[in-house]
Amino acid sequence: WPKDVGILAMEVYFPAQYVDQTDLEKYNNVEAGKYTVGLGQTHMGFCSVQEDINSLCLTVVQRLMERTQLPWDAVGRLEVGTETIIDKSKAVKTVLMELFQDSGNTDIEGIDTTNACYGGTASLFNAANWMESSYWDGRYALVVCGDIAVYPNGNARPTGGAGAVAMLIGPKAPLALEQGLRGTHMENAYDFYKPNLASEYPMVDGKLSIQCYLRALDRCYTSYRQKIQKQWKQAGIDRPFTLDDLQYMIFHTPFCKMVQKSLARLMFNDFRSSSGDTHALYQGLEAFRELKLEDTYTNKDLDKALLKASLDTFNKKTKASLYLSTHNGNMYTSSLYGCLASLLSHHSAQDLAGSRIGAFSYGSGLAASLFSFRVSQDASPVNFSPPGDTNNLFPGTWYLERVDEMHRRKYARRPI
Ligand code: CAA
Repeated sequence: WPKDVGILAMEVYFPAQYVDQTDLEKYNNVEAGKYTVGLGQTHMGFCSVQEDINSLCLTVVQRLMERTQLPWDAVGRLEVGTETIIDKSKAVKTVLMELFQDSGNTDIEGIDTTNACYGGTASLFNAANWMESSYWDGRYALVVCGDIAVYPNGNARPTGGAGAVAMLIGPKAPLALEQGLRGTHMENAYDFYKPNLASEYPMVDGKLSIQCYLRALDRCYTSYRQKIQKQWKQAGIDRPFTLDDLQYMIFHTPFCKMVQKSLARLMFNDFRSSSGDTHALYQGLEAFRELKLEDTYTNKDLDKALLKASLDTFNKKTKASLYLSTHNGNMYTSSLYGCLASLLSHHSAQDLAGSRIGAFSYGSGLAASLFSFRVSQDASPVNFSPPGDTNNLFPGTWYLERVDEMHRRKYARRPI
């Protein structure tokens, strides 16, 4: 197989317009702090009517190709993960093919993948699998994920957002996917779904969705640990895998507070599988050791004790990854990869070199995986632009120009 298949370059896009969550608290007449402190969100990005999922994805693909200066025929696979469906048949991928037109390159495998926020990760796995298979022809893959997350008026609305990420996938990557290490959990749940095809709003059972997310996290972490411990055993290492073995940990981020609780949950998993007072951090958790697992998802005292015990670990391993999510909100399929970009842009190449970054991807309904990247010794940070405060689109942004009487969409690009 080609060595160290993973992410060579990334491009992130988020809308130029946003709502201040403090203003939204006032407007929705909820208690001050509910969105900003309770959910951990400061701003929420939203798209203008000139943008849709196709324009978001056009922007990130074009910018990534311009920045890397790769010829368009160097791409042999293009995958899109999205749950923002504007056409029940025609894939976003087909629209992106317009960018390849002048190059004459039409030999590009891959199509759209949908399951809530998990489609981007499924696309990443597909691209890596292709590269490690007999079908690989030596060219790069592009993985594109993007979504516009909007909710009806109500308690889910402050957890909206929008954005897209494009990733260039190839061998000898500075962010290599660790082979054989994916812990996956899938089940049938109605926590968040979109049965109403005429509406862009989901149906959400918010409390259930949080439990489903945390349960999936437990299961994925358990199977990830089993797999890595098996690899270690074959290499002669016989000890349990714990959070200490992850230098950084990123999560799908529906809202930031959820991520802080998720990191805490991983510590709880380590604690539950430890045999006693092995770690100073676990001291405040002993009272909860015998709780039935199903009761641990809703126990507020446990929540508090876990947040306290894991605070330093959260600050070290995860907090920096939440920059974009805090300021822009949920980007569904691209949320996890926005966290990755935030993490990379925060830390120096020296900090990151050689480290393992754990990644948890969750898509309601549900599909979830925990996997990891290994950063090469010469990793350099990914650049992306800070949010602007203008009401106009960014220069170089693709936008929806018009929809004709046959519902065909035409796109144009703002000059750079
Ligand atoms: N100051 C500080 N904190 C406050 C506060 C105030 N004035 N008022 C409330 N809070 C706190 C609450 O105590 C609570 O914190 P804890 O959970 O730590 O106790 C937090 O703010 C939220 O308050 P509520 O629980 O009352 O919030 P809610 O029930 O009105 O809505 C929600 C929260 C259910 C998450 C809702 O926003 C929602 O449905 N969101 C969409 C679904 C979602 O994001 N689910 C996450 C998992 S599913 C997933 O990950 C897929 C996906 O992308 C959608």
